[in-house]
Amino acid sequence: MAAPHLLIDTDPGVDDALALLMAHAHAKVEALSIAAGNVGLEHTVRNACTLLDLIEADTPVHAGCPTPLVRLPEEDAAFVHGSDGLGDVGFPAPQAQPQDEHAALTLIRRTRERPGELTLVALGPLTNLALALRLDPSLPERVKRLVIMGGAVTGHGNTMSVPAEFNIGFDPEAAKVVFEAWPMFDLVDWEATLRHAFDGDTFAAWLKAGDRRARFFDQIFGKARQYNAMRGRSGVIAADALAMAVALDESIITRAETRHVGVETEGRLTRGSTVVDWENRLQRPPNARIVFDVDQAAFGAMVARALGATD
Ligand code: BDR
Ligand code: CA
Repeated sequence: MAAPHLLIDTDPGVDDALALLMAHAHAKVEALSIAAGNVGLEHTVRNACTLLDLIEADTPVHAGCPTPLVRLPEEDAAFVHGSDGLGDVGFPAPQAQPQDEHAALTLIRRTRERPGELTLVALGPLTNLALALRLDPSLPERVKRLVIMGGAVTGHGNTMSVPAEFNIGFDPEAAKVVFEAWPMFDLVDWEATLRHAFDGDTFAAWLKAGDRRARFFDQIFGKARQYNAMRGRSGVIAADALAMAVALDESIITRAETRHVGVETEGRLTRGSTVVDWENRLQRPPNARIVFDVDQAAFGAMVARALGATD
C-alpha cells in the first residue's frame, strides 16, 4: 500500500501528538493546519512546533482560527492535556516556526495544487475546515479522503453537554458546516476510541522499548494518565491516534456503517451532539462512514512503530 500524503488539522494535545508521531512515521505529511481546542491557539501552534523539533521534521505549520466560528467555548480540555496542552512538562521555546499563511487558506491552496491526492485528517474542532469550505465550497472535490475524529454516535460523549464529544462540542457550528457540505467522510467517534483503548501494560512496554519519541510521549502523558485514572478509565485512550490509523490504512477497519449524521447546534441539553439517522427515516443521503471497530493489533503495531518500539 502506498503511503498516503496527509494534510492534518489538529489542536495538539497529547493524543494529537501521538497521532502526529504516527503520521510522520508512516506517511508523507504535507502540512499541519492548527486549530484552537484542547487549549488556546498560541499553545497548540507552539506544541506542533515542539513536536516537529523532536522528530527533526520540517513540516509546514499554519495557524488557524483562535476561536470557534460563532460562540466562545464554555470549556477547553486543559484539565486533561495540561494548561499548555502537552502535560505542563515545560518544554523550551521551539525552533520550528509557523508559516504566515492561514490554516484555512493553506487547505485551499494545497488541494488546488494537488487535486485528488491528499487525505485530510481532522483531529480537532472543525473551525478551520468550515472556514475553508465557506471560502471555497469546491474543497471536497479535491480531497481524496476526509477522516474526522469527532462525535459520539450513541450519545456517550465526553463533555459537560453530556451527549457531545469534545471536538464537535467545542465548535458545533463549524461541525455542522462540514457535515452538511462534505459528501462522504470517515467518522471515528469517541465511543470507538473507548472500545480501542490499549492495555496499560502493553503501552508501558512500548514506552520502555521506544526511542526519544517514546520518552517524549511518556513525559506529556503524565497529566492525562492521572486524569484517566481518576475517572476510572482503564487502559490508554488514544482518540486521535485511532483516527490517524484509519487515515493511514483504511483496510484496518473491521466494522463500519454508512449513515446520515447531523450536528445539533441549539439543544439546551444536547448542543454539539452528533445525531445519526440509524433507520434512514429522513431519507437523506448518507454523509459518514461511521467506524465502529478496527483491527486492534494492526492499530497497536502502527503506534508501537511510531514510538520507536519496533522496526
Ligand atoms: C478529542 O478531544 C480532544 O481532547 C482530543 O485531542 C481528541 O481530538 C477526543 O474527544
Ligand atoms: Ca485533538
